[in-house]
Order: sequence, then structure tokens, then C-alpha cells
Amino acid sequence: PASTARLPHGGLAVGGVSLAEVAQRFDTPVYVLDEGEVRGRCRTYRDAFPDAEVLYAAKAFLSRAMARWVREEGLGLDVCSAGELELAVTSGFPPERIVLHGNAKSPRDISAALRLGVGRIVIDSSSEIARIAAAVGPEGRQRVLVRVVPGVAAGGHEKVRTGTEGQKFGLSAADGSAQEAVARILAQPRLELAGLHCHIGSQITTVDAYLVALGRMVELMAAVHEVHGAVLPELDLGGGHGIAYRPGEPALDLTALARELRTALADRCAAVGLPLPRLTVEPGRAIAGPAGVALYRVLAVKRSGGKLFVAVDGGMSDNPRPALYGVRYAPRLVGRASTAGCRTATVVGRHCEAGDVLAVDAELPGDVHPGDLLAVPVAGAYQLSMASGYNMVGRPPVVAVHEGAARVLVRRETLDDFRSRDIGG
Ligand code: LLP
Repeated sequence: PASTARLPHGGLAVGGVSLAEVAQRFDTPVYVLDEGEVRGRCRTYRDAFPDAEVLYAAKAFLSRAMARWVREEGLGLDVCSAGELELAVTSGFPPERIVLHGNAKSPRDISAALRLGVGRIVIDSSSEIARIAAAVGPEGRQRVLVRVVPGVAAGGHEKVRTGTEGQKFGLSAADGSAQEAVARILAQPRLELAGLHCHIGSQITTVDAYLVALGRMVELMAAVHEVHGAVLPELDLGGGHGIAYRPGEPALDLTALARELRTALADRCAAVGLPLPRLTVEPGRAIAGPAGVALYRVLAVKRSGGKLFVAVDGGMSDNPRPALYGVRYAPRLVGRASTAGCRTATVVGRHCEAGDVLAVDAELPGDVHPGDLLAVPVAGAYQLSMASGYNMVGRPPVVAVHEGAARVLVRRETLDDFRSRDIGG
């Protein structure tokens, strides 16, 4: 990935800072986030989608600094809880540029969204319509989108496929629930229907599924126009743009996606006589993922069952993705000049589960030993944001690196944090 350039003598640097120095100053495990890479990725989206609204999906990774970078680069924000929303707003994110998602919004989510004044709330079930309308004050009017199931199967893993019938998200267009929700919203004076939304899945590496979804969404917009005379100003096609986790893996071509979506949208709308809606996209992984590196220290090396096991000081508590989705990473040893004598190693975490495996085919120098530093590239998305307190190891800090300088964004979770939440009883 672009964010990890090789230094002389086999060291690795990110954002102009050597990873060995980061480990020495901040200890391990530590998540390193390249500010320039995040900003650069935001700009790539702005350039590829000049007429669209680009919302960064905060679930991939959110901190106050991250929210600030994204805002400064001209993106809006997709949040899915009062927590993400409040953190973003307290960091100065303009609430009108925030969209609230969630298949089961709590009363707190809804009241925070209305109190802070989010731009849109995405309706995910029909019972939400009355709940949100009732929570809007007598003078107020909330803009909403309807999340539609377009009936498209796409995504890197079954657990992140969200465009098909029979999964928990959205309202089906095939069985008429989406159309019914549209009618109810249009009849609801406290709500304003701004458009339709779909998010078909995550870690998608080809454009075709997006084009199928777009076609179905425009059909539905045309039907809404025909039945109600309403022209919906926005079409939100969600995120899911796939990235390469290991060398040689495919990634979604953003320029091709942007070009093909623009052309298809113009063609489809012209065919059904609709004016062009504003397009919205919601990338999370593609912005944060490649900008992060997880840095671990090797704690143990052993042979077992004919395999070389290299165990590090983190694992499934800071990155549950291998255990959840069976994904594998490409760790690299920091600070070794030569890759001669490399062996295939299984890189594992320190947690009390056999499934705590980061890589099964890491090419590491044969003399890898405890004390070595191991860098896992493409670690910026859905790792720390999904981290847990398992085994009371404590979540790693996030260190931002930029133009040769490093600073802590989020501090390490300590034993005191665990102790202070445990109030005895
Ligand atoms: N919009 C909505 C409504 C979403 O639900 C999501 C992700 C996104 C946008 C951003 O998707 P992205 O561009 O990041 O793929 N934990 C899984 C990924 C779950 C994605 C959930 N929704 C993983 O680690 O692969």
C-alpha cells in the first residue's frame, strides 16, 4: 500500500516517521494512522465524484481528528449511533452534513439526531416513521431517506452482504414495503422525503453490482414519481468500495465507478423522464483502511505441527476481522535489511482462542525472534472501531503520523480503565 514506504536497512516509515521510532515512543501494540493518506484519499473521492456528496462512513474508524480531516477535505459523515454523532459534532462537524443510519435506532439515537439537527435520517423500518415524526417538534420538519433492498448480492463476505432479500437491513422493493414506507412518509407533515438509499454490501471490488442497484433504484424513483408526483432530489448508493489487503488483491477502481455511475444515472433518468437526482456515496474502508498500520511486537516464536508460529502482543481484541470473516493479512517485519532465508510463518495473536490468527502465509525472515517489530498494513478500517476488551489486554492507542511528526490521537486503554468501570458490587 502507498502508506508504507521502505526505509534503508529494511525499516518501514509511514507519514515520514519510522515505525521503530513509533514503537519506541508509544510502545506496542499501536495503530498508526497516516494523516496525509487519509486526506489524499478524501481528495481522490472529491475529484472522482465532483458533483456527488461523499460521506465518510464513521464506523470504519472515528476519532475527533479523523472527523476534522474529513470535514476539512470537504466530505460529509455517515454515522450509525448517538455516540458517533456526538463525537463528530463535538469535534466541530456541521450536523447538517451528517446522515444517521441504523436498522434499530434507539430513542437516544433519534433524539440526539433531532436535537443536534442532522441533515438526513435514513429510515430502515416502517415503525421508525411514526417514531421519528413524533419526536420532531410541532414546528420542525426532518429530512429523511428510505433505505431500500434492491435485491443485489455483492460483498466480500456473507456477513457484509446487505443488498439481498432476507437480511436485516432496509425495506424491500420487491414486496412493496419500500413503496408503502414512501407513501407514509409523503403523507407525514413532520417528515420530508429527500430521496432513496441503498447499501448493497462491503469490500466490493467490481462496478457491475452498483450498476444493477442503480438501475433498480431509478426504477423505484420513477414509480414514486408516477404514483405520487414526487421528484426525489437524492439517490444515495451507500459505500462498500473494496480495497486490497494483500499485494496482488483486487481493489475497486474508483474512477471507473464514478464514471460508470454518472453515465448510468444520466441514461436511466433520461429513459424514465426524471431529472437527475444528486448522487451520494458513503465510503468507509476505502478512506481509512489503507491509511492505517497496526504495529505489534513479537512475543514468542515456536514450531508446532510443522508450522512456524510467530505470536504478537495484540490480536483479536484489536482486530477481530480474521476471526469474524476469515480474512488474512500480509504482515511485514520491521527493521530487517534482507528478506533472504524467508520462511512461511503463521502469525497469531496473544488471545486465548485458536482462531486468533492474523496470517497463515506470512513470508518472514527465518531468524524472526521475540522483540522483533511486525507491521500489518491496511489496518485503518474496522479494526480498532471493532476492538473489544477481551482478556483485559486493553485497546491500543492511535498515533497520527504526518510530515515526519507523530502524535497520539487516542490514548491506550489501561488497567485503570477496566478497574474504574468495575464498581465492585
Ligand atoms: N454505508 C452504510 C449504510 C454501511 O452500512 C456501511 C458499512 C458503509 C456505508 C461503509 O462501507 P465500506 O465503504 O466501509 O465498505 N466490519 C466489516 C464491514 C462492515 C460494513 C458495515 N457497513 C469488515 O470489517 O469488513
